[in-house]
Amino acid sequence: MVHANTSVHQVDFIWDRLTDEARAAVAAEPLLGGTIHASVLHHPALEHALSYRFAVKLAAPEMSEQILREIASEAYASDADLALAARADIVAVFERDPACHRFLQPLLYFKGFGAMQAYRVGNWLWRQGRADLAYYVQMRVSERFGVDIHPGATVGRGIMIDHAHSIVIGETAVVGDNVSMLHSVTLGGTGKEDDDRHPKIGDGVLIGAGAKVLGNISVGHCSRIAAGSVVLADVPPKSTVAGVPAKVVGEAGCSQPSIMMDQLIGVRGPDQD
Ligand SMILES: CC(C)(COP(=O)(O)OP(=O)(O)OC[C@H]1O[C@@H](n2cnc3c(N)ncnc32)[C@H](O)[C@@H]1OP(=O)(O)O)[C@@H](O)C(=O)NCCC(=O)NCCS
Repeated sequence: MVHANTSVHQVDFIWDRLTDEARAAVAAEPLLGGTIHASVLHHPALEHALSYRFAVKLAAPEMSEQILREIASEAYASDADLALAARADIVAVFERDPACHRFLQPLLYFKGFGAMQAYRVGNWLWRQGRADLAYYVQMRVSERFGVDIHPGATVGRGIMIDHAHSIVIGETAVVGDNVSMLHSVTLGGTGKEDDDRHPKIGDGVLIGAGAKVLGNISVGHCSRIAAGSVVLADVPPKSTVAGVPAKVVGEAGCSQPSIMMDQLIGVRGPDQD
């Protein structure tokens, strides 16, 4: 059942554009017809396509595609915010990744996007108290995509994880809206703290490749963390930090989210907070 309780579903320009792109891709490369039909054109809405992709990517001898698809369909049907976040993620990747030229690419080819959507389903399971299934999803995402996000972590919308090798995000980490990260980023503990032990990343932060952000520290909104940095202390908003250990090396501007992203981040269904 497609949810009709958010305005974004009533005029779903993302899904409309994605299906147009899919038809054009099949016309240009008929050998991809089967894949693109099964992943996009066969479905009535993005939620169905996301459930299919989740199942086909994470199925294993011990957990069938059919069961995984049921899990994802239940998640998307019960929490409209999941697919709204997916739409914001598609726009984020399209706007911030210079290698992304169509909405179709994240859905079909980008493992950072696939891993993020699977995390969102795992986090939904976690919030339902279904911890073991959530851990199973975390394990399969880690095995398939090399992205290890604890299902208890809190992650906002409009997230881009570029390349997405070797990403680790710990249980008590918080990641705001419109955050971008490159490959080999760790949001981890120092090993010296228990309980609330992971970083809190503000909105609009860029985390460069290989950066390690460790401990229950805050990275202020719109800050940039240079590639290869090890961040061990709070980062003020709108600043650039670099080095090991990272130090403030400059100021960072806040780029405005596009109108498209602004609308997506702002939209809530009537049953949402
Ligand atoms: C930090 C970054 C965002 C640039 O931010 P910026 O505010 O424009 O910073 P600048 O380029 O002006 O550099 C400021 C200072 O930090 C230094 N610096 C920049 N990046 C650094 C890094 N990764 N490690 C150490 N020092 C770095 C610069 O040399 C400069 O030092 P100086 O003032 O002594 O000359 C960029 O360098 C970066 O690391 N981006 C991540 C890109 C990435 O991960 N790419 C992977 C693609 S696959």
